[in-house]
Amino acid sequence: MTFYPLNFSTWDKKENLALKKVIKSNFFTMGSKVKEFEKKFANYLGRKYAVMTNSGSSANLISIASFFFKNKKLKYKDEVIVPAIGWSTTYSPLQQYGLKIKIVDVNLTDLNINFELLKKAITKKTKMIVVVNILGVPCELDKIRKLCKKKNIILFEDNCESLGSEINKKKTGTFGDISTHSFFYSHHISTMEGGMALTDDFETYCILKSIRAHGWARDLPKSKKNLEIDEKKRNLYKFLYPGYNVRPGELNAAVGLEQLKKLKYLERQRITNWELFYKLFKNSKLFHIQETSCKNSSFAFTLILKKSNVKLKEKIFKILKENKIEYRMITGGCITKHPYINHFDYEIFKSLPNANKAHKDGFFVGNAGIDLTKQIKKLHNLLENIR
Ligand SMILES: Cc1ncc(COP(=O)(O)O)c(C=O)c1O
Repeated sequence: MTFYPLNFSTWDKKENLALKKVIKSNFFTMGSKVKEFEKKFANYLGRKYAVMTNSGSSANLISIASFFFKNKKLKYKDEVIVPAIGWSTTYSPLQQYGLKIKIVDVNLTDLNINFELLKKAITKKTKMIVVVNILGVPCELDKIRKLCKKKNIILFEDNCESLGSEINKKKTGTFGDISTHSFFYSHHISTMEGGMALTDDFETYCILKSIRAHGWARDLPKSKKNLEIDEKKRNLYKFLYPGYNVRPGELNAAVGLEQLKKLKYLERQRITNWELFYKLFKNSKLFHIQETSCKNSSFAFTLILKKSNVKLKEKIFKILKENKIEYRMITGGCITKHPYINHFDYEIFKSLPNANKAHKDGFFVGNAGIDLTKQIKKLHNLLENIR
C-alpha cells in the first residue's frame, strides 16, 4: 500500500448516503442537486452566479468560449497573456479558439506569474490576462485586477487549484471576470469529476449556461431578456450559440453539497499540514519551497532543488519510490516544455528561467484535508540528510 499517496479521499458515510439518495430518486442527469450546489457554492465565494460543469477543464472551455459570444469581447487571433506554469487545459481553449498567447515567467518563490514582467508584457494588443493561482497560493490578484480594469483587459482566473485561499481577506475565485474551479479527486473538495465557472455578470452567466448544454436556450432563467429570447416563441430546441455538452450529473452535485459542508474543516487540516511542512523545510539547504504571505489553501507541497543536479534528483525519486511516497511534476510544469506547444500561436516574453527551473528541478508531494503528520515527518527524515 502507498504510504504517502498524492490523493486521499475525504468522503465518509455522508457522501455515500447522498449518492444513495440520488440513486433512489432514479434521476441522474443535471437537475435540482446541481442547481442547489451552484447556489451554495456561489454563496460560499460571494459571487452572483455559478455554472457547474463535468470538470474544471470544461469550466475553462466554456469560459473562454463565452468571451467570444459576449459582445465579441474576444476575437480570433487576439493576444492573451498567460503564465508559464499552469495546467494543459488552462491553455487548450486558447488554442482551440485561435488566440495568440504571450507566455510570461513565474516567481520562483510562489510559482505564480511575475507581476513586474506581466505589466511589461502588456501592449495595445493584449485583450485578456489569464492567471492561475498555483497550488493554493494566490497570484497578486488585487494588482492584476486593477491593471485589467484600468486597461480594459479581460481577467480570466483559473482557480482550479486554490479553492479557499485569500488575498487581503478576499477569496481567490472572486477576482476574474470569470473564475473557475475543479472538483477532481485530489482537489479541496471532490465530486469525482466536476468543475464550476463563476461570474457576477448576468449575461455571461446566461451564455455559460447555454453553451454548457448544446448551446440551447432551454436552461436560461425566465427573466432573461437581454439575449432577446422571445419567451413565447422560445421552444426546447432553440440554439443560441455553438455549444458543447459538458453538463455534470446529480451524483456529482449531491456529493459536492456534502463536501462543501466540510470545506472549512478540510481547509484547516490542509493548513495544519502545511504549517508542519513549512516548519520542517523552510530552512532547507537543498530545496526551494513555495512561499507566500497570503492565506494559502495548500493543494500540495513543492520542492525545487536549489542547485540543478540530475543524479541527486534521480536519487531522491528512487528513495521516494522505495518508501512508497508518490510525487509528480509541479502542476503541468512549464508549458513550453511540452510537445503540445507546437500547436499554439505563441510568443515567449523575454525568457522563462524560473518556470524552466521548476519544470526541470521540481516536484510536489500531496496535501489533503486529513492529518498527514506521519507522512510529512517521514518525508523530511528521508530528504534532510540526502546528498
Ligand atoms: C490549474 C488547473 N486548471 C484546470 C484543471 C482541470 O481540472 P479538471 O481535472 O477538473 O478538468 C486543473 C486540474 O487539476 C488545474 O490544476
